[in-house]
Amino acid sequence: MKDFTGSVAVVTGGASGIGLAMCQRFGQDGMKVVMADIVPERIEESVALLRGEGLEVTGVQCDVTKLESVEALAQATLDTYGAVHVVCNNAGIGPGGQLALWEYEEADWNWCLDVNVFGVAWGIKTFIPIMIAQGTEGHIVNTTSGNGGIAPMADTPIYSVSKAAVVTMTEALLLHLRTRKTKLGASVLFPGPGMLRTKLFEAWSTRPEEYAREEERTQGHFTYDDVEKIMRSANPDLEVTPLEEVADRVSNAIRDDQFWILPENPSSEETMRKRYESMRDRRNPDYFREWNLDVLD
Ligand SMILES: NC(=O)c1ccc[n+]([C@@H]2O[C@H](COP(=O)([O-])OP(=O)(O)OC[C@H]3O[C@@H](n4cnc5c(N)ncnc54)[C@H](O)[C@@H]3O)[C@@H](O)[C@H]2O)c1
Repeated sequence: MKDFTGSVAVVTGGASGIGLAMCQRFGQDGMKVVMADIVPERIEESVALLRGEGLEVTGVQCDVTKLESVEALAQATLDTYGAVHVVCNNAGIGPGGQLALWEYEEADWNWCLDVNVFGVAWGIKTFIPIMIAQGTEGHIVNTTSGNGGIAPMADTPIYSVSKAAVVTMTEALLLHLRTRKTKLGASVLFPGPGMLRTKLFEAWSTRPEEYAREEERTQGHFTYDDVEKIMRSANPDLEVTPLEEVADRVSNAIRDDQFWILPENPSSEETMRKRYESMRDRRNPDYFREWNLDVLD
């Protein structure tokens, strides 16, 4: 997709963090933007921010875990702008870390997989038929993470599982977009390469009641600062990546029809290589990185 001017982009999880940066960048690229998010106050604030910059943005409250809510988002998009060309399935949450895989409650699994996996599936199921019927060029970007998308990081196992699923789902999507000879492209976004200052670590504060845990967590939640400390103890050179840089990569990848939006980073390269070699040589995994929680004391 080379020409963005006058095209329409939909971004889920668009009212904060990486999604908001993508909305801003698409607006600057001359697109009309639909910012979809589950938290109405965030939508109101972020739409006002981007409109203040002279960008064409419409906010829509949407819960990506519900197919009918994503269908209503598509209808709102068509009612407002008449078409859709770019869809970023970006909404994501972490259900809280520091538990072993078998210690999570059913509600933790449901919340994380419903948002991070089914949210992407419902975006694909809803928007692709509309985009194919339109007959125009278009592009889908699904947000994964190096955490799971490359290999699981310690202490956030369900999140890792969900992000591994996003990579495979996007590969399958690309295969089908090609074999069905559509005019659509697909990309999978690994935000980074450094730390990203977003509200991801505060996801617990907007956890919907329907996914409430039966028992209070005793572990508390990592804050952004905790995670930065942990990561920096393993890699003192770790940088903070501006969100605009991530959005810039997404915009360029859509233009260049680039599938892997995977910025280079020595530690990810090493993990990818070790994981590949472990599979190739049928050796047990030696690429997991422990988290040093002592730095939080
Ligand atoms: N921040 C990081 O370090 C990082 C790293 C790799 C991948 N990611 C991924 O990037 C994406 C964006 O996250 P972020 O870091 O910008 O976090 P963020 O919390 O700032 O933004 C995520 C947005 O998704 C929204 N959301 C949550 N549940 C939703 C639902 N059911 N329906 C619609 N919207 C919903 C939230 O309200 C929030 O505004 C996520 O998929 C995340 O997993 C983030």
